[in-house]
Amino acid sequence: MDSYDWNRLAAASVLSCCILINCWFISKISIPYSSFEFPAYDKDTQINLNLKTANISRGKIIAAQQCGVCHTFNSNEPDKIGPSLFNIKNRKIASLLKFNYSTSLKLHKQERWTTENLNKWLYKPLQFAPATLMAYGGLSSKQDRADIIVYINSLTDQHSEFAKGN
Ligand code: HEC
Repeated sequence: MDSYDWNRLAAASVLSCCILINCWFISKISIPYSSFEFPAYDKDTQINLNLKTANISRGKIIAAQQCGVCHTFNSNEPDKIGPSLFNIKNRKIASLLKFNYSTSLKLHKQERWTTENLNKWLYKPLQFAPATLMAYGGLSSKQDRADIIVYINSLTDQHSEFAKGN
């Protein structure tokens, strides 16, 4: 190789480096962050495993503290600021006739309160229904959500003794 060849080789290496850097840069600005990494939201909705170790008694205590201001849990209690959570398990979303739901939550009315939907809702209510009337920031702790979900899922006729505190 003479010096001309070396120069050509050097130029070619510099050029390919530039192309690589450009590719990386363009991919960074054109592909949204979320396609590189799982967003926390998706990771956080995988709580099925946690439900196995969920603690219903703890769920009842947290629900009383965090949700009790606005919700009731027993069959004979009326709606408060929020709709009654009695029989919430698999209930159609925004379906209590006496309660005046937001249009935002009513957009989900074809769906049901499955564990998965409850999990998304309780994680970030505003992400689930952007103009919801539920003035509640959400629960970031997976364990808290799992505990609450197991508790409110038990609020049925069969298990209502638990809701009453027995
Ligand atoms: C500041 C009052 C407030 C607090 C605190 C609150 N909620 Fe709500 N909740 C509401 C309101 C208001 C709605 C109706 C939302 C709408 O129509 O957009 C609602 C709706 C709901 C629904 C939908 C019910 C249905 O009939 O479709 C569920 C489930 C729910 N809340 C669970 C909870 C849980 C569990 C907690 C505690 C972790 C909680 N909420 C805390 C006010 C509250």
